[in-house]
Amino acid sequence: MANFGDYQTGIYANGMFAGKAPDLPTGLTQLEERAADVLSAEALGYITPSAGSGATARANRAAFDRWRIVPRMLRGSAERDLTTTVLGDSLVAPIGLAPIGVQTLAHREGELATARAAAAVGVPYVHSTAASHSLEEAAEANGDGTRWYQLYWPTDPDVCASFLRRAKASGYSALLVTLDTTTLGWRPADLDRGFLPFLRGEGIANYLSDPAFRAGLDKPVEEDQAAAVMHWARMFPNPALSWDELPFLRDHWDGPIMLKGILSVEDARLAAQHGMDGIVVSNHGGRQVDGAVAALDALAAIGPAVGDRLTILFDSGVRTGADAVKALALGADAVLVGRPFLYGLALGGQDGVEHVMRCLLAELDLTLHHAGYGSHLQLSPESLVPAPPTF
Ligand SMILES: Cc1cc2nc3c(=O)[nH]c(=O)nc-3n(C[C@H](O)[C@H](O)[C@H](O)COP(=O)(O)O)c2cc1C
Repeated sequence: MANFGDYQTGIYANGMFAGKAPDLPTGLTQLEERAADVLSAEALGYITPSAGSGATARANRAAFDRWRIVPRMLRGSAERDLTTTVLGDSLVAPIGLAPIGVQTLAHREGELATARAAAAVGVPYVHSTAASHSLEEAAEANGDGTRWYQLYWPTDPDVCASFLRRAKASGYSALLVTLDTTTLGWRPADLDRGFLPFLRGEGIANYLSDPAFRAGLDKPVEEDQAAAVMHWARMFPNPALSWDELPFLRDHWDGPIMLKGILSVEDARLAAQHGMDGIVVSNHGGRQVDGAVAALDALAAIGPAVGDRLTILFDSGVRTGADAVKALALGADAVLVGRPFLYGLALGGQDGVEHVMRCLLAELDLTLHHAGYGSHLQLSPESLVPAPPTF
């Protein structure tokens, strides 16, 4: 059986026997700097910074640094098994792509390149409601791949139900409902430019192609795009959303449902009480609440509290395979990665996303092996120790 870590062998062989080094960095923390060379100032400002002072994104990274993996020796893990089942879907590894909107800011093919890359690597693709391509187009690009749909809950219930119907019809097997972005966070990098792609019609393809959305317009989208954008602007913000509305989802979606953006034990318990199948512990990569709890710190508390009742996905700040190991040890059933794959998309389209994901999988696999594990399922909080305090 091949291990994901064999990607490393291929890179060395290409370098030594074919004189060809990888086009993109293998140290995934370097991707941001490289992507900055190819992205427009507007795109970079939208993708990279976080809300307010950027404290939440810094906290996300710092939280990973406060945990250390304790490698164990002589445990015979020549073949690793990273396969896992999440929400009924069999996955080759506990890794997926986070839902990211407006991917045409990074690359002209946007979500289509990402959906193809996800299928090629074998990891789940999550289609954002704020995508630049419709969920049907992305599904076609994703082919036989595993795909989930991320809902931004519109205030118009007909549009919401229509999104869910379309997602089901296009083969999206699970629903991730993002709760932390009922309006946009305070994002100075975009505000300073007065830049919001949705207002020029980019990132609203799911809406513009939706029959229920179009039914609410006086003129077809093609004849009056400005009016269509204003129609979107009226239904995207949903600040009144509350726990009482969750039954609507059960009435209109018969697959698994996960709540994305959970950061407290109390909300995790409420998710279980409301019959949800899982949660995504996430602070949206620091893009919503400045000064928020680090996602990994939240996971360390939430994992033991609800891990036996809910599937737990995790994102926000994952940059390396070792980061993924730490999140899996602290209770995540699988880990989603955000900006790194988007930088891969910016730098190399589909190939760039594939490279980033193969590097991440290889590093996860090798880290597991070097730490003495044959499967991520053997990880537990005891696999880690807190880093000694620095003064
Ligand atoms: C440019 C950008 C756009 C995003 N768009 C969405 C979105 O449409 N829906 C969503 O649920 N999360 C969105 N997110 C958040 C990601 O799903 C994920 O929570 C976050 O990127 C994880 O943090 P990381 O980038 O540090 O890995 C977006 C993140 C970025 C960077």
